[in-house]
Amino acid sequence: MVKTRGLKEAEKKLGDLKTIISKMLKKKKKVKIFESGCGYGKVMIELKKKFGNRIDIIGMNFKKIHGDKNKVISFALEEGIINKDEVNQMQSMKLIFGDAGKKLPFKTSSIDLVYSQVSSYLYEDKMHFFEEVARILSKDGIARITSAHHKENLPEEFQQLLRIYDNGKEIPFEKFISKFKNIKMIELPSGKKAIEIKSGKLNFGLKLKSTINTNHLWKEWFGIVSIYFVTKKLK
Ligand SMILES: C[S@@+](CC[C@H](N)C(=O)[O-])C[C@H]1O[C@@H](n2cnc3c(N)ncnc32)[C@H](O)[C@@H]1O
Repeated sequence: MVKTRGLKEAEKKLGDLKTIISKMLKKKKKVKIFESGCGYGKVMIELKKKFGNRIDIIGMNFKKIHGDKNKVISFALEEGIINKDEVNQMQSMKLIFGDAGKKLPFKTSSIDLVYSQVSSYLYEDKMHFFEEVARILSKDGIARITSAHHKENLPEEFQQLLRIYDNGKEIPFEKFISKFKNIKMIELPSGKKAIEIKSGKLNFGLKLKSTINTNHLWKEWFGIVSIYFVTKKLK
């Protein structure tokens, strides 16, 4: 599993995070950032290197062995992204561990930028993650997340990772989210699509009914199929 993507890949998959942060810094002194599923933290390091103490950045991984602060800093040194004199500047970064599909450990309206690159396809409760992201975003905050509902390098029957059923009828993810104003799919200059979330209440009215972890079926498969049903009547 690749844990080493940086800002270059993020620009293709999520858009220009540096410009988003620069714009925010015109309006506020400090920008608070949360990366869900940061791996070895290359994007966090590159952002910290560019913006220094004008950003507070917290990264999350499922387990410590997927990358903790020591790993993030040693990886950045090995790759020559930072030198020894820059290590101190990186110490204010925080790494936390756990399941991002559960309640996120942040106050409501407390984070200005959330981003997540090639990670949420591994969460059991993907839709709850999106609801939580909307909750923690500050008033003018923004989230960019790589698509969690489709994975090409899995057998065809598992490629749709987000399955939503209403009275026995499947609703495609993009059609389902079109009913909610603070979440949408956007097309990026690279031609790729990403999920964009803005702050506010997001309650999908879904119940997670079942999951299939494809990695339990074959060691080379990565991705969790999340099956929901609608509990609230759709408008
Ligand atoms: C394929 S790696 C991608 C890492 C990095 N974003 C990159 O693109 O190089 C997936 C990351 O998601 C994290 N992850 C997997 N399941 C998670 C979960 N339920 N909650 C939070 N993070 C999770 C893993 O710890 C891992 O670091």
